[in-house]
Amino acid sequence: MRDDLPAVPDPALLDVRADGARDALEALVADTHREAFDWLFDRALARPMHPEAYPASRAQFFGPSDTPSPAPRRGAPATDVLRVFRERVAPMTFNAHHPAAFSYFTPPPVAMSVAGETLAQWLQQGVDVWHAGPVGAFVEEEVTRWLADLVGMPARAWGVLTSGGVMANLMGLAVAREVHLRAVLQLDGPPRGRDLDGARVYASDQTHFSVSRGLDVLGFSPETLHVVASDERFRLRAEPIAAAIAADRAAGCTPFAISAVAGSTNTGSVDDIVALASLARREGLWLHIDAAYGGAARLSARDACRVPGLNLADSVTIDPHKWFFQAYDIGALLVRRREDLLATFSRSPEYYASSRPQDEPLNWYEYSIEGTRRFRALKLWMSWQHLGTEGLGGLIEHNDDLASYLAGQLRAADDFELACEPELSVVCFRHVPAAIADRAQPDIDRYQAALQRALEVDGSAWVSVTTLRGAMYLRAGIVNPNATRAEIDLLLGALRRLSERVVEDLDHG
Ligand SMILES: Cc1ncc(COP(=O)(O)O)c(C=O)c1O
Repeated sequence: MRDDLPAVPDPALLDVRADGARDALEALVADTHREAFDWLFDRALARPMHPEAYPASRAQFFGPSDTPSPAPRRGAPATDVLRVFRERVAPMTFNAHHPAAFSYFTPPPVAMSVAGETLAQWLQQGVDVWHAGPVGAFVEEEVTRWLADLVGMPARAWGVLTSGGVMANLMGLAVAREVHLRAVLQLDGPPRGRDLDGARVYASDQTHFSVSRGLDVLGFSPETLHVVASDERFRLRAEPIAAAIAADRAAGCTPFAISAVAGSTNTGSVDDIVALASLARREGLWLHIDAAYGGAARLSARDACRVPGLNLADSVTIDPHKWFFQAYDIGALLVRRREDLLATFSRSPEYYASSRPQDEPLNWYEYSIEGTRRFRALKLWMSWQHLGTEGLGGLIEHNDDLASYLAGQLRAADDFELACEPELSVVCFRHVPAAIADRAQPDIDRYQAALQRALEVDGSAWVSVTTLRGAMYLRAGIVNPNATRAEIDLLLGALRRLSERVVEDLDHG
């Protein structure tokens, strides 16, 4: 063993040239996968969510101190570390693989995505300056081209992978500010400080929080986001936006962008994008579409029509770690013109000088807020090759069909209320059994929350809760190829089974 390296457990794992290094690595990988599959088959398939509530979870993880313990001074053998994983981490997970896990938008990743993620981690390509991850640059160029083609953007379009939809929305708004607001205001440089006063961006009350936070981060004042009420199906329509634009112009403000959503977080609603696109064109506004979740419906020849008009956008957020069934993390921003990303993000640090600038290498840091990024593209590129657009699209249809089935069951029942017809694969509903039907709204809300928690403890299925127009609903986000109609029936059966005790607890608690 080398004497210039620290004495650590399993030294062959630290030195790839040590005798037995390959055997040691293979053993670690085999042990790791055994842990992964023990978790998957023994735990994740047993229940969708571990049963403890937050305070008990903390106590379970941190122990009586209830705070993080200090970093270990001395290392421990890999087998011990894996044992700690088994004891402290594996029992406390949300289990997206469970067939009755109807999550926020956490899909079980397809196997090839995990394989790609594993290879990406070993390859350690820094997808930043071209030399730090040469092939990573090309795979990202190819897979973002596939995404741009999927939403119907032109050849000039360009995409960049992000940590998720929050980052993609922030970057999309940054491009809108740097390129479009600058043009609207006819400035010589990027808008800053007082230039941002009076700027207006339009979005619905169903917009993801990252749009308002993005505008904050970009230096806009809180009034910049003009929130317009969505319609009875939670969709943003063009008419109220047109009225808002006219009022704002009359008040001396500068409308410059519409931020629409194709597949909202709450209900999966899809804004009236085609009408919003014509309005944006007429009014000279940038159109950003947050299709973080819903964009995946383009994978299905049958269901693509549920998210029309993405091709009309100036920028689109699309998140493969939602409905493309990808391992975390991978989001994407697509823009209609490649040069807009460069105009917004390109810088020229001297340490990234190229020995052959005439080659014009593709440096991804020039297209993103982020610098060094993981080789995110590989898992999506490999999954897409493995399943094809048709295979991925078939999974979308399967989820959409389950959502329709669930909606049908709810509509037919006396004791359930469907919030609205699902446009994609999110279904929001309430359980209102006879025992609480006459109660006041706050009681019915408390009952939904208590029922959700009872289901979590029960462990047969999992849904979240959300608030729609001030009332509490159960929310099933069906992004799960493992689910079948049997799990939908099981979900409704479990809610009914748990109901009586939950009502009793409400009355006595
Ligand atoms: C419509 C929409 N946009 C953006 C996001 C943010 O995505 P992420 O949390 O992956 O950054 C979400 C997350 O659920 C979403 O539903």
